[in-house]
Amino acid sequence: MNREEYDILIGREAAHWSVVACDGEDPQIWDDARLFEIFFGREYRHFLRRVEEHGPRVLELGCGSGGTALALAGRGLRVTGIDLSPERVRAAGREALRRGLADRTEFLSGDLNLMPLPPSSFDCVVAHDALHHILELGDLLDRVRAALVPGGRLVVMDFVGMGSVRRVVAAGLFALLPTYRSYRSKWGLRRRLLSFLTPESRKRKAFAQGSAKLLHAESPFEEISGPSIHAEIASRFRVEEYFTFCPFWYYLAPKLRLPPSWRYPLARTLHALDGAMIRIRPRSGAHILMTAHND
Ligand SMILES: C[S@@+](CC[C@H](N)C(=O)[O-])C[C@H]1O[C@@H](n2cnc3c(N)ncnc32)[C@H](O)[C@@H]1O
Repeated sequence: MNREEYDILIGREAAHWSVVACDGEDPQIWDDARLFEIFFGREYRHFLRRVEEHGPRVLELGCGSGGTALALAGRGLRVTGIDLSPERVRAAGREALRRGLADRTEFLSGDLNLMPLPPSSFDCVVAHDALHHILELGDLLDRVRAALVPGGRLVVMDFVGMGSVRRVVAAGLFALLPTYRSYRSKWGLRRRLLSFLTPESRKRKAFAQGSAKLLHAESPFEEISGPSIHAEIASRFRVEEYFTFCPFWYYLAPKLRLPPSWRYPLARTLHALDGAMIRIRPRSGAHILMTAHND
């Protein structure tokens, strides 16, 4: 893919993130604080604690509207957040002012595939749900290494995707079970199935050949990285901690149309099923948490 084609796709990605909001037909786990707590609460607090241990100068990659950056600034860290979407960066800045955290935060907009990072400037670099959108992941990690002081840490909590069998099962259950999206509207989504079922390796190959056919229409870089995130980090840093979690049910839980009295008890049961799956196959989670040391 040439630079002109890349610019069109990254523009589409930025536009997607600039307007993304809770979609009543397609709720995500982060749209419901109680569901987020059930599936991710423990790991997210662990992630924040790790960063807190390794601050105080923190760089957040793909900071979005600043949720994580502001949680860290609230714990006394100095945070620089970078995001592709200028709208999200502005929203983060406004929220920092509202919470009285503007003196400890800085938000910049830029494309992490390309932008230089200041050398030896941070004690800790963090990414929450961001690296799976990065095409030039290896190159970004080289810049992250240079931006960290020696002995600094990279702390990542990210989505690495489900295996192909689970994707097919998830798509089938989504199609069959009653969800906030009507059956008619789900039928209209069938063209997206190709992108949902295509693994990282095939997406990257198609991309390199100049084709955007297998990419998500609105968010072309969705899951352009996934299983490779662990290997790319491990080849550049000394991994101190690595585990996976939430292999399956986190994906469907927010989408199921249920009476409110069933929603959270069922979510807790589904989370327990996810936990059982992880005990049987510890590396099968669709999400990872990693702490890596810059030797
Ligand atoms: C799933 S959101 C996560 C946002 C935030 N970290 C959070 O947890 O709320 C992914 C974010 O990555 C950003 N992003 C995607 N591609 C990027 C790129 N090439 N450079 C910088 N940010 C990017 C998007 O704009 C979006 O805000």
